[in-house]
Amino acid sequence: MSEYYQIAVDGFSSCGKSTLARQIGEVLHITYIDSGAMYRAAALLALRNNCIINEKLQPECFRPVLQKADIQFHKSTNHLLLNGDDVEEEIRQHEVADNVSEVASHGFVRTLLMQLQRNYSHTSSIVMDGRDIGTHVFPKAQVKLFIVADPQVRAERRFRELQEKNSSSTFEQVLDNIQKRDKLDQSREVAPLRKADDAIEIDNSHLTRKEQLEKAIRIINEKLEDKQ
Ligand code: CDP
Repeated sequence: MSEYYQIAVDGFSSCGKSTLARQIGEVLHITYIDSGAMYRAAALLALRNNCIINEKLQPECFRPVLQKADIQFHKSTNHLLLNGDDVEEEIRQHEVADNVSEVASHGFVRTLLMQLQRNYSHTSSIVMDGRDIGTHVFPKAQVKLFIVADPQVRAERRFRELQEKNSSSTFEQVLDNIQKRDKLDQSREVAPLRKADDAIEIDNSHLTRKEQLEKAIRIINEKLEDKQ
């Protein structure tokens, strides 16, 4: 068995997975990977290359572009680098948010990004957040967490976050985007969002960040002890 372990953090849009997974990485001193940032980078790349027409990704246009792309994280800032450029801010814009679930629904996109995601597990223990980490990317992950929260609460959190970044998005736009992505992510044919049978659910609608972290660390410690 590999000396490294994996922690999968899956859940719906804007439920605080990324914050939690980043904190877990810091507490346990393991690598944190935001798989959503990789899908967002793919969506940005598709937009830049005009491979999305009438909200639909054109595979014949995008496949060669994606195959040549270099998608990785900066070693110290952890920002997403697309072909060497820091696109961390751009991938959070609403044009990307509006197109990412369509791009992520294509099998060839998922196969390519999944390979990159799995490579990270060869060199260190990792915590990765996303939609299909516990079900597809690391089905044998030692710990699987599934995060849920009320859609209204999620939209409020994301709206506040965007306001701090001076975004012009309205609350209604944010809620609408969350609901649309939830639907697309759950209904797509390839690797849809669902809770793995062995995942532990955390509803954080009424938990502070600190409370949710404490809960997650308790679960992780128990699971990792059981496996030893
Ligand atoms: O941060 P937020 O929850 O808004 O989304 P994200 O984690 O940045 O992911 C953006 C989008 O990428 C999701 O809505 C999914 O459509 C897609 N995604 C996916 O399909 N599989 C993953 N493992 C991660 C993200």
